[in-house]
Amino acid sequence: MKEVRVSEQQSLQFPDGFLWGAATAAHQVEGGNVSNDWWLKEHTPGTTIVEPSGDAVDHYHRYREDMKLLADAGLTSYRFSIEWARIEPERGYVSRAAIDHYRRMVDTAIELGLEPVVSLLHFTVPRWMFEAGFWRNPEAPELFERFVETALPIVSDGVRYVCTINEPNIAAMLAGGEDAANLVAYGLPNPDLGVADALLDSHTRARSVLSQLPQIESGWTVATQAFHSTGEPGADEKLHEYGYPRDDWYLEAARGDDFVGVQAYTRTFIGSEGPLPVADDVETTLTGWEFFPPALELGVRSAWELTGGVPVLVTENGIATSDDTRRIAYTDGALRGLHATIADGIDVRGYLHWSALDNYEWASGFRPTFGLIGIDRETFERHPKPSLAWLGDVARRNGL
Ligand code: NOJ
Repeated sequence: MKEVRVSEQQSLQFPDGFLWGAATAAHQVEGGNVSNDWWLKEHTPGTTIVEPSGDAVDHYHRYREDMKLLADAGLTSYRFSIEWARIEPERGYVSRAAIDHYRRMVDTAIELGLEPVVSLLHFTVPRWMFEAGFWRNPEAPELFERFVETALPIVSDGVRYVCTINEPNIAAMLAGGEDAANLVAYGLPNPDLGVADALLDSHTRARSVLSQLPQIESGWTVATQAFHSTGEPGADEKLHEYGYPRDDWYLEAARGDDFVGVQAYTRTFIGSEGPLPVADDVETTLTGWEFFPPALELGVRSAWELTGGVPVLVTENGIATSDDTRRIAYTDGALRGLHATIADGIDVRGYLHWSALDNYEWASGFRPTFGLIGIDRETFERHPKPSLAWLGDVARRNGL
């Protein structure tokens, strides 16, 4: 009986050319990002950041080995970000060596058969930009636009998908708080609306710069947030405050973009007083989030609806766990939900798992392990997990 169900389940096919990949972000994996704002925060006493990023997982030097592991497993795409602070460590000084480095990463991905998906900004900015007022500096959108012009040679050929800004909704929310450690409070509201405007302006300018390269499709990547009302009196009103439509600015803004990057992990219940902690009897992950695979389907559907039908690229989805069988179970569940969205006619271009590697989870440090590949923190030795082989197999069959 069980075997029949499994073979029935194996017949879920994804569209031709569907991208199967994994993602990282520069500061979380490269190591030695001494010129950015996060390094500064990591070394500022009194924050709740549990540990500094240090050498991270030395991806800056080991990117080829990492990409090869993904490609050998059967994956067809790799998303990574370029670090503004390496490219422009001082205002107006451009490091040619850093540009060459990221261009080599693009070339390596292509050589290995991985479609590169390049993010221009994944939370971190150069320290000088942070000290000059961060996104509250009226010049910020123009500074970002100039950076994108500078970075253009990195994506000038062989690159189709460029993500401008990662999770603008989270970035705007964090900028509303005093402490970078608010990053752990995933899904809380109260964005700084001035910052949201600056990010929007920056995104529009970046897309306009990128439009010089006709082969590029650009969009930003958003943290979709599944908010559910508990149904108690007052909860529905709160839900409207915390969920849609209040949070739709970053999806409305993607109307007309070439694609929208959907990132989804969990859900949050909203009671009459606001967001609730996860109930005791519910399975949680190493970030404390509910184990909730349908988050991806919900996120894709809401992105499709609120953007008015902009193609979706799943740019992040995964869980932090030390039990790799739960990672596989989560991803399997998420992909079944994703398949249902495609069956309903939603244009989904690919699925990029978060993350390729165990990495630096911001304020939570290295403890929450999201990777398909484990890392020996002493030797930097790579240890591919069964989930990598599993996802590679899904990619090879283009189906479940
Ligand atoms: C979203 C962020 O883009 C990424 O940097 C982070 O590590 C993951 N979510 C997991 O929290």
